[in-house]
Amino acid sequence: MKLLRSQYLYVSLEIKRLLNNKKILVAVTGASAMLYLHSFLEMLENEAVIVHGICSDAGEKVLALEHTVDSRNLPGVSKWFDCKNFAAAPASGSADYDAMVIIPCSMGTLATIASGITTNLIHRAADVMLKERKKLILVTRETPLNRTHLQNMLSAHDAGAVICPPHPGFYLQPESLEAAAMTFSWRLGDQLGLEMKGRKRWSGDE
Ligand SMILES: Cc1cc2nc3c(=O)[nH]c(=O)nc-3n(C[C@H](O)[C@H](O)[C@H](O)COP(=O)(O)O)c2cc1C
Repeated sequence: MKLLRSQYLYVSLEIKRLLNNKKILVAVTGASAMLYLHSFLEMLENEAVIVHGICSDAGEKVLALEHTVDSRNLPGVSKWFDCKNFAAAPASGSADYDAMVIIPCSMGTLATIASGITTNLIHRAADVMLKERKKLILVTRETPLNRTHLQNMLSAHDAGAVICPPHPGFYLQPESLEAAAMTFSWRLGDQLGLEMKGRKRWSGDE
């Protein structure tokens, strides 16, 4: 059964590739809130997109703690890159990703992006997205925020990133944690211009 599912995913991803659909790079760093990552990847699985991934060492640790999985077992990602490999495709603008989403984004990774320092493939890929004027979404997660965090968010915003902290839309009345996380995934989907069948929207109070 597991084999059949992986075969199905492989074939469907190849079809998406043939149809020349959007290429999205998802990066995972060592912040809490991996529930949102899971929800986002599940949503992407039903969209006409190609998803590649990178996970930091701290990301693997927090993922194991919160979800008892490693990144390679997450849904919907057709290719994972080693975070230490600066020669991997996302290190170059010619790799041509349409968008990159760092989910969750630690304050450490935010700081390196804000300052332009690149010490791993996630930082480098984010730097590439900014220089190529491509969409970079940072799902920043920390609370409370100190002055440095706030300044770094503003610097990253001014450089072209979208700062998108993981806040669910409770006005859509989600009935579980997973449903609440999905209301946030829909927000990310809006940012990426995805269709999202079943996406609930506020339609006014009349
Ligand atoms: C269980 C756990 C939860 C953490 N949560 C956060 C968090 O929510 N936000 C954050 O900025 N750092 C958090 N950290 C600290 C980061 O993992 C740490 O700063 C790390 O160096 C980030 O590296 P990275 O950005 O390369 O993944 C957490 C660490 C652990 C072990």
